[in-house]
Amino acid sequence: MTSIAVIAGSTREGSYNRALARLAAARLEAHGAAVTMVDLDAFDLPIYSDHLEKTAFPADALALKELLAAQDGLLIVSPEYNGSVPALLKNAIDWASRPTGDEGLVALTAFRGKAAAIMSASISPFGGLRGLMHLRQILTTIQMLVIPEQVLVPLAHAGFEEDGSLKEALPASLVDMTAARLVKVAGVLAA
Ligand code: FNR
Repeated sequence: MTSIAVIAGSTREGSYNRALARLAAARLEAHGAAVTMVDLDAFDLPIYSDHLEKTAFPADALALKELLAAQDGLLIVSPEYNGSVPALLKNAIDWASRPTGDEGLVALTAFRGKAAAIMSASISPFGGLRGLMHLRQILTTIQMLVIPEQVLVPLAHAGFEEDGSLKEALPASLVDMTAARLVKVAGVLAA
């Protein structure tokens, strides 16, 4: 069974991106994936520093890296902060991208050659598009294959029902289409 990790770039109570991540996880499962929800608040990750990496590589950074390394693919659902990705998310990616053990200088075992998909919910009318452009570039840099489908939920404060479902049919069907493609591509690349 194809395994997919789902990371929300916001851990805010009532986060629209966490709601979108839950919806997407359900669609990934409907398309046959085994989903692991990654709660970034569960990992004690200091801001990345070379000194820390060399002297006291955080146990939780290693745990996050090992968790991601065990997956076939990755879905990131993240808000846009000031036109880019939140520091919480970038810091987690930076730690998990670092070599550990005897991997050598360019490790990327958590990411390289795996499929990824990206989604964003934002209270702006642009739906976090600039953040997703940066996120796509970051994931490509760490040698993931980011599928072309992506989901934007603009005006997110008006986009969700009380039960967490999406009000509009178009983003809901895009979530499903993106989930289906991610499961398929992650499975092919993992084979
Ligand atoms: C934002 N927000 C935001 N929205 C956007 O569309 N473009 C942006 O550049 C920013 N910048 C930004 C910076 C910071 C520091 C914060 C805290 C927020 C607003 C953002 O879309 C809104 O807070 C969302 O509700 C955040 O997502 P969650 O937490 O609901 O998932």
